[in-house]
Amino acid sequence: MRSENTSAIRPSDITPESVYGARRQWLREVGVLGAGVAFAWQMRLAQASYTQPAWILQKMMQSRRREETTTEVLTPYKDVTGYNNFYEFGLDKTDPAEQAWRLTTDPWSVRVDGACDGGGVYHLEDLLRPHSLEDRIYRFRCVEAWSMVIPWVGFSLGALLRRFKPRSSARYVVFTTLERPAEMPGQRQAVLNWPYVEGLRMDEAMHPLAIMAVGLYGKPLLPQNGAPLRLVIPWKYGFKSIKSIVSIHFSEQQPLTTWAASAPNEYGFFANVNPHVDHPRWSQSRERRLPATLWDPHWIPTQMFNGYEREVAYLYKGMDLRRYF
Ligand code: MTE
Repeated sequence: MRSENTSAIRPSDITPESVYGARRQWLREVGVLGAGVAFAWQMRLAQASYTQPAWILQKMMQSRRREETTTEVLTPYKDVTGYNNFYEFGLDKTDPAEQAWRLTTDPWSVRVDGACDGGGVYHLEDLLRPHSLEDRIYRFRCVEAWSMVIPWVGFSLGALLRRFKPRSSARYVVFTTLERPAEMPGQRQAVLNWPYVEGLRMDEAMHPLAIMAVGLYGKPLLPQNGAPLRLVIPWKYGFKSIKSIVSIHFSEQQPLTTWAASAPNEYGFFANVNPHVDHPRWSQSRERRLPATLWDPHWIPTQMFNGYEREVAYLYKGMDLRRYF
């Protein structure tokens, strides 16, 4: 899984100078130091290759804070950018931060097609131009029962989709992640069906809480968080929030999404946060709010629709949420 990983050792893992002793120990330290330097170098490269074009930074500087959707304590930047799920870069939570520096995010374009009249291939700059960016602080609940509170920078998904003039026959919208195994080492393993695919019912996608994010904490997204463009659907489990999107397709049929294809009894199409419907292998009634440690796991109760029940419950009126999980 981690054959390309040359950076598993962080600078913080390097033993302090005071404990240098026997020659054998010294040699070991040199090895560790080398790995540390390699890691630091890789991170430097990472910084370099993540430099966003001036236009996106400029756009970001114009972003305006909106009414906050939660007053909870924000999860620190280092946890939001260091503890990730992005299987294209490996299975461990630290793999994306270590591996995603390989991703070229500029130039970037998105193909729009299917049941719409405004399809085409859009360069990211053109895609974003008409939208002003907003700060949105959302709770983010992963299906694996950890959660964060993240200040995203993004814009309305509904406003974006309307520009493509979806036809009335479009009942679903399907998003696809980049497939580029040369830069995404996880895609060289058949862990999931690549490329990663997610979808929403059109009325869900048009909901005002649904956003396309291009940044967080006022900075452009780093690749581990799905640069340059990712979905954020705060009332659904994190896996619906697909990263590094290259395609938007309007469909008449419900798509087969990546996780539902991989384990249909564990991951449904809707994936609404629901403390009353457990994952077959663990409870969904509580979550570990990050940062958390073994000694202070910071468990808190999970809320229906991740706390956005008042805003979104109407979308699922009359649906059996045990069946449509
Ligand atoms: N998108 C792609 N393309 N590949 C992934 O593996 N993981 C999902 C989601 N989007 C994933 C993805 C899961 S399971 C979660 S919890 C969130 O991304 C994690 O987002 P974060 O790392 O920015 O917190």
